[in-house]
Amino acid sequence: MTKKVRLEQIKADIIEQNICPNLAKTAKQLVFGHGNPTADIVFVGEAPGKKEDETGEPFVGAAGNFLNTMLASINLKRSDTYITNIVKYRPPNNRDPLADEKAAFLPFLFSQIDVINPKVIITLGRHSTACFIPDQQISDIHGQPMRVEIPVNGKTHTWTVLPLYHPAAALYNGGLRSTLLEDFQIIPSLITKET
Ligand code: URA
Repeated sequence: MTKKVRLEQIKADIIEQNICPNLAKTAKQLVFGHGNPTADIVFVGEAPGKKEDETGEPFVGAAGNFLNTMLASINLKRSDTYITNIVKYRPPNNRDPLADEKAAFLPFLFSQIDVINPKVIITLGRHSTACFIPDQQISDIHGQPMRVEIPVNGKTHTWTVLPLYHPAAALYNGGLRSTLLEDFQIIPSLITKET
C-alpha cells in the first residue's frame, strides 16, 4: 500500500470512529493534512481555523502565509512538506482545543507521522509542542531540536522534534517574527543529516 493510501485509511478511520462528534457537528469538514506523503518535514499545528475549515487544507490563512514566507527563507515550498494539526476539526469560534479533544486525535496524528516517517517533526505552538515534549515552556525550548520517544501502535519510535512558536503568535508580536525566522534557519541541517 502506498503512503498516500495509508494516510487515506487513517482519515477514513477518524470519520468511521466518529472522533470528537461535537466538533464534527459544528465544523464544515475534517481537515486531515496536506502535502507530500514522503516529506522530510512534518509541521504540526493546533487546529483548523475559519479558512482551513472552509477549504479543507491546514494553514491557508494569515498564519499559513507567514509559514510560506518562512519556508521560502530556507528555499523550501509547502509542497516539499506535509502539514497537519493535532485536532482535525475547527473548534467553535477558534477556541483552544480541549485536553480530551487533543487526546482523542493524538493516536491518529502519531499514525499519520509514522506513515510519513519524516526526518523532523516541527511543532508549531505550545499545544502541539506539549503533545511531544510535555512539561516544558515553549519560551525555554523553541528552536532546540530534541530526540523524543513516542509509542505508535505498540512500537516505540524515536523522532527528532523541533519546537517552534506558532506563526499566528508572530502576527501579533513582531519580536516573535524574527525569533521564528531565526529558528527556521536550523531546519536545513536537520533534513540533510542522515538519521
Ligand atoms: N492555526 C493552526 O494551528 N492550524 C491551522 O491549520 C491554521 C491555523
